[in-house]
Amino acid sequence: MTEYQLIEGDETVYRDGSIKLHGPEGFEGMRKAGRLAATILDEIAQYVVPGVTTGELDERILSMMLDGGSVPATMGYRGYAHSCCISINHVVCHGIPSEKTLKDGDIVNIDVTPLLDGWHGDTSRMFLVGDVPLKARRLVDVTYECLMIGIEKAQPGARLGDIGAAIEEHARQFRYGVVREFCGHGLGRLFHDAPEVVHAAKAGTGPELKPGMFFTIEPMINLGKPWVKLLNDGWTAVTRDKSLSAQFEHSIGITETGNEIFTLSPKGQHQPPYDI
Ligand code: MF3
Ligand code: CO
Ligand code: CO
Repeated sequence: MTEYQLIEGDETVYRDGSIKLHGPEGFEGMRKAGRLAATILDEIAQYVVPGVTTGELDERILSMMLDGGSVPATMGYRGYAHSCCISINHVVCHGIPSEKTLKDGDIVNIDVTPLLDGWHGDTSRMFLVGDVPLKARRLVDVTYECLMIGIEKAQPGARLGDIGAAIEEHARQFRYGVVREFCGHGLGRLFHDAPEVVHAAKAGTGPELKPGMFFTIEPMINLGKPWVKLLNDGWTAVTRDKSLSAQFEHSIGITETGNEIFTLSPKGQHQPPYDI
């Protein structure tokens, strides 16, 4: 049986595996953290160009997080030592910023999670470096569609599985692979909390969605097979068949009438190409 826990006011949130149901204070906190996260992605776009290193982008993101009054939730998280994840081409997720240089034709995911006043705003977008081949651009477009189709299903009274079912159904039409090993997640005062949001699921299964639930949807979609493997650094996940992979992520809250996306781009830069 799914356990839900009503959160009123500013109480401590325990890592007890329950699904938290937040009130107005939580929504306010998530709006601010989500807006900062989205603004950081808006601002980093101009620097995502051939020749830049992922380490330089990470540095800029750290400054923007600190300037915004937040800290990177990823820093020190299970030993992770950076302000964001930057995943290039066949890297599925959790790419570690380094001396590696972006090159013309790359597709890149940047995933940021500022922790602001105790709330986590978790979002990622794809960026196109220079001239990107049509096949790769189509993967990026369809992955964005998968995220938004999943978000449409996030309604009070629906089941969590309805989200993954809709995402998988859309990806299947293009014969793309939906990654199973990494999921969306509840969040709020905790970075990763219940429930686990699977991106390939059966409609009508899983916990009922209720007003006040906060979680991410973050589909990882591969041009080839869904299979991934972890590199020896213990973080970087790549496609086994070396095919390209794309991902977009939003943090959302279930409302009485639908949902609220906390991490919408204030500049309207939802998917590439971005005007910079
Ligand atoms: N931001 C990632 C997510 O969407 C988590 C990154 S954890 C890290 O859940 F340690 F790899 F940074
Ligand atoms: Co996330
Ligand atoms: Co993220």
